[in-house]
Amino acid sequence: MDIGTSSIKAAMAEVHGQDVHLLGITEVPSFGLRKGSIIDIESTAKSIDNCLSELERLTGIEIYSALLGFSGVSISVVNNHAVIAVANPTYEITQEDKERVLNSARNLSLPLDKAIIQIIERQYIVDNYDGVKDPVGMVGSRLEAEVSIVVGAIAAIQNLQRSANRINLHVDNLMYTALLGAESVLTPSEMEMGVVLVDIGGGTTEVTHFEEGSVLQTSVLPIGGEYITKDLAIVLRTSMEEANRIKERHGVASPDMAKSDLMINVHNIQGKDAREVSQQVIAEIISARVIEMTELIYAELKQFQCLNRMPGGIVLTGGGAELVGFADIMEEYISVPVRLGLPENMKGLPTDFNRPQNAVVLGGILYSARQRAVKHEDTSRIFGLIDRITYWLKDLFR
Ligand SMILES: Nc1ncnc2c1ncn2[C@@H]1O[C@H](COP(=O)(O)OP(=O)(O)OP(=O)(O)O)[C@@H](O)[C@H]1O
Ligand SMILES: [Mg+2]
Repeated sequence: MDIGTSSIKAAMAEVHGQDVHLLGITEVPSFGLRKGSIIDIESTAKSIDNCLSELERLTGIEIYSALLGFSGVSISVVNNHAVIAVANPTYEITQEDKERVLNSARNLSLPLDKAIIQIIERQYIVDNYDGVKDPVGMVGSRLEAEVSIVVGAIAAIQNLQRSANRINLHVDNLMYTALLGAESVLTPSEMEMGVVLVDIGGGTTEVTHFEEGSVLQTSVLPIGGEYITKDLAIVLRTSMEEANRIKERHGVASPDMAKSDLMINVHNIQGKDAREVSQQVIAEIISARVIEMTELIYAELKQFQCLNRMPGGIVLTGGGAELVGFADIMEEYISVPVRLGLPENMKGLPTDFNRPQNAVVLGGILYSARQRAVKHEDTSRIFGLIDRITYWLKDLFR
């Protein structure tokens, strides 16, 4: 599930080995969140429930648990590093050594209102050899771990947990949406070389820098597509619903992309009388906000000091990225390549669902499928070991 400010999305898939077969995807309006954070547990619970009921109807499968993707301005990434001496006299690194160094790396002194949401292993360094993905079984005397730790407000995590409890939904896992979006839209080589994923939602924009295959820095800005809608509603003196409809149907990011002779019907705030406004005028209003949002994103990249460490450029995703011309304006302003991030890592996706807005929810499916594959490998490894032990016992008693 993607618990967003504008909408709540859910997807279900069947996984057979490498094959991920999408069974259904649903979306309902989200009530109870502002700028990515829950401000009303009851309404959030109801929205989640509606979304899941629809998915149950669609697939005919009852849902008891889910992976929840969430965001909010309290989220940040802390990079940490730890060193241990390998305990084994033969210097073979064991699972215990790995756990020991990870435990040491997760030892952060956090403010009382913050907690760790997720730990991402960036790399291990064995006796100064870096770039090691899994050190278990290697030989060395000094083991280092570099990790990225996603941190968020305890209150935000608890509010989400409470919303789920309200409807008896078991939370399998809580994850930061930017990392889920990355699963479905970024290519492995972009992630390796350096890329920035910008997810423009309704109430938030996540700016995340990836390098060497994992997250380095992230920032959640308290603005999104609703910011444009609100401005349109005020200037055009109409309702938010009408402004949103106009933006999504006729909006473009810059006046020179608009047709001056295309007139659009705008209903007044009561939804009755309509007048005509040119697409040009609408584009002028939108463009001011688009430039402002682009400036804020650019300021974040400068803060990250990553402008010359992102050969993959910017990948623009989330519903807000669907505004015609947004990617072009951003490319022009920031002078780095900008491409639209569709959830293309999900193979065989029907075109209707292949939209930036579905990047996070489908990323959740891909992430879960991958985790399941790893778990499966782990259990077969354990079974392998048990098999070997029984054979050894048989040998002994022969
Ligand atoms: N075709 C379109 N043109 C312009 N904007 C669009 C279009 N389609 C969707 N949007 C905008 O995308 C936004 C919703 O995006 P998304 O579903 O990714 O947000 P969310 O995940 O619910 O919110 P957040 O991530 O901020 O919590 C809305 O502001 C909506 O108006
Ligand atoms: Mg979102």
